[in-house]
Amino acid sequence: MDRIVLDSPLDMHVHFRTGNMLKFVVPYTACNFAGAMVMPNTDPIIDNHYALCRYREEIKAACKDAFFEPYMTLYFQTSYTRQMLEECRQDVLAIKLYPRGITTNSGHGVLISDPEVETVLGYMTELGIPLSVHGETDGYVMRREREFMRTYERWAVKYPKLKIIMEHISTAEAVNVLGTYPNVFATVTPHHLLMTTDDLCGDMLRPHLFCKPLLKSPEDRAALQALVLGELSDELQRKVMLGTDSAPHAKNKKECDCGCAGVFNAPYALPSIVPLFVEKDKLPELQRFVSDNAKAIYGIDTLPKMVELHRESQRANAFLGHLVGPKDDSYVCVVPMYADQILRWRVRKTWVDPVRTKVVLPKSPLAK
Ligand code: DOR
Ligand code: ZN
Repeated sequence: MDRIVLDSPLDMHVHFRTGNMLKFVVPYTACNFAGAMVMPNTDPIIDNHYALCRYREEIKAACKDAFFEPYMTLYFQTSYTRQMLEECRQDVLAIKLYPRGITTNSGHGVLISDPEVETVLGYMTELGIPLSVHGETDGYVMRREREFMRTYERWAVKYPKLKIIMEHISTAEAVNVLGTYPNVFATVTPHHLLMTTDDLCGDMLRPHLFCKPLLKSPEDRAALQALVLGELSDELQRKVMLGTDSAPHAKNKKECDCGCAGVFNAPYALPSIVPLFVEKDKLPELQRFVSDNAKAIYGIDTLPKMVELHRESQRANAFLGHLVGPKDDSYVCVVPMYADQILRWRVRKTWVDPVRTKVVLPKSPLAK
C-alpha cells in the first residue's frame, strides 16, 4: 500500500502559544488536520470567556485559508463559578487541569488536594464539560504518571458522568486505568507511541525530545502501541485519540541549560505514525485513532477534510525558521521532531471532499 487517505484528522491536544510563535506554528497543524483541541497554558493563561474567544480569533487569523476548526479549552481554576462555566459552555470543548508546577506555565495550576477542585468538577459534571488532565504528581520524574493514577481512579468513581481525558499517556498503568473506567479516555502523542527514554538520552542527549511526561520504557511504549492498534480490545481502542502535544519552544530555549519541555511535532505528526499502522495492516484503527474516536468521545463533527499521504521518502527539516514580522525579534526558529531524519511517508495533498462540498483547499506548505 503506497497511498492512504485520512478522513478529517484531528489533533486533540496541541499548543499554539501566542503572537509570532502562534503565527508560525498554526499553519503546520491547520494544513494537515481538520481541527485541533488547543491548550490554554499560554502567557497569560486562558481562564475566561473573553480571552478564549479572542484567542480563537488569533488562531483563525493565522490559519489563513486553511479549513481548520480550533476547539478551545479553558485553564482549570478553582475560582470558576457555575454561572461562568454555563456562559462559556458552547465555546469550550474541555477544561484542562494542570497540577501546579509540573510543566510549562503550570504555575496557575491547582493543588490536587484543594477541596475547591471538586466543587468545579461538580459543575463540569452538571454542565457536561469534559475534564482534560495533565496527570503527573511532583514525585520522582519517572513515576509521576503512575502516581497520578490514584487521582484519576478517585475522580472516575466519584464523577461517573464526567468525561475524563488522560492526556498524553506514557505508561502501561495508564492503559490499565483506561480499561477499567468507562468514563475515562486518553490521548497518545506520536513521540510516546514511537520512542523511549533511550531516544532522549540513551546515547547523546536530545533536548528536542525532552517533554513532560518523559518518554518511558520499551514496555510502556509496547502497551501504548497495543492500545492504539486495537490489540488489547476493540472497545479500548475506541477510547484513545491522537493528541500530538506539539509544544514549540524556540531553538535557543531548548538547547541550553534549563531547557524547556516540549516536542514540536506538528509538521511530521501524521507521516511519523503511519508506518506503525501500515506495517500491521491496521488502517481502520488508524482512521479511528486520528479522527473517529475523538468525534465520538467529544461529540464533534468537522468539515470533510481529506488528507492524502504517500509512501515517499522525505528528509525532515533540520529546523524551521521564519521571519514573522518586521522587527528583529520576530524571527522564529524551532526544531521539529525527526529533524534532519528520513521519514518514509509524506502528506501529498489535502482537500475537502467534493461530494460533500465544492471548495478546494490550498496545498500543504509541506507537500512539494
Ligand atoms: O512537554 C510538555 N510541553 N508537556 C506539557 O505538558 C506542556 C508542554 C508545553 O506547553 O510546552
Ligand atoms: Zn500539552
